Amino acid sequence: MKNIWVIANWKSNKNIQEALEWVSQVGPELPRRENLKVVVCPTFSCLSEVKKAVTIGGFPILIGSQDISSFEAGAYTGEEAAALLKDLIDLSIIGHSERRQNFSESDEAVSKKVEQVLRSNITPLVCVQGADTPVPEGCKLVAYEPIFAIGTGTPDTPENANNVAKSLKQKYSQALEVIYGGSVTSGNVRSFITQENINGVLPGKASLDPEEFVKIVKECVGETN
Ligand code: PGA
Repeated sequence: MKNIWVIANWKSNKNIQEALEWVSQVGPELPRRENLKVVVCPTFSCLSEVKKAVTIGGFPILIGSQDISSFEAGAYTGEEAAALLKDLIDLSIIGHSERRQNFSESDEAVSKKVEQVLRSNITPLVCVQGADTPVPEGCKLVAYEPIFAIGTGTPDTPENANNVAKSLKQKYSQALEVIYGGSVTSGNVRSFITQENINGVLPGKASLDPEEFVKIVKECVGETN
């Protein structure tokens, strides 16, 4: 049975109190399936509180960061090194298009970040705009996120997303897991998740609302009511 990843990318939203409210509302509602991987990616400042709340609640939620330093721990002011976060996070989003656009993040930086997280046994989730964006060695999970679909309310077509996912698997490995991101909602998630080559979704805006996020997860596993 294929893995289904549902990864909430909160971006620069939610303070600690709001983050904890989300966990307490979403946690108890989540279906438990072996192949279902629900991940929440809060801001760095919320990571440890969210981790604590998930652990105490015993909720089936993994924790991710939205970025990571391309350097190891040391004299790099303002950076968040993978080695220092390894007990807090399971996954790290790397090379999101908002970072490439607003912070001039290069493919080279992306590749260094992947190296850093792999060394700390954190799963890299590399974001690509298509099969032409390089996927660094060692990556087993990739998000196809076309820029026109991010935050616009206009997702890509499920068929096109499936074709891109197929091309990525052909180019790198059939074992590569590819998820889709860009205006995912509870109303359209099923059309993506049912595509042969798509292993999950990365909702941004829709992940902020606990009820909507739970609906997305339930749609993914066919638990609708
Ligand atoms: P969106 O963002 O769901 O708000 O379009 C997705 C993303 O950028 O990860």
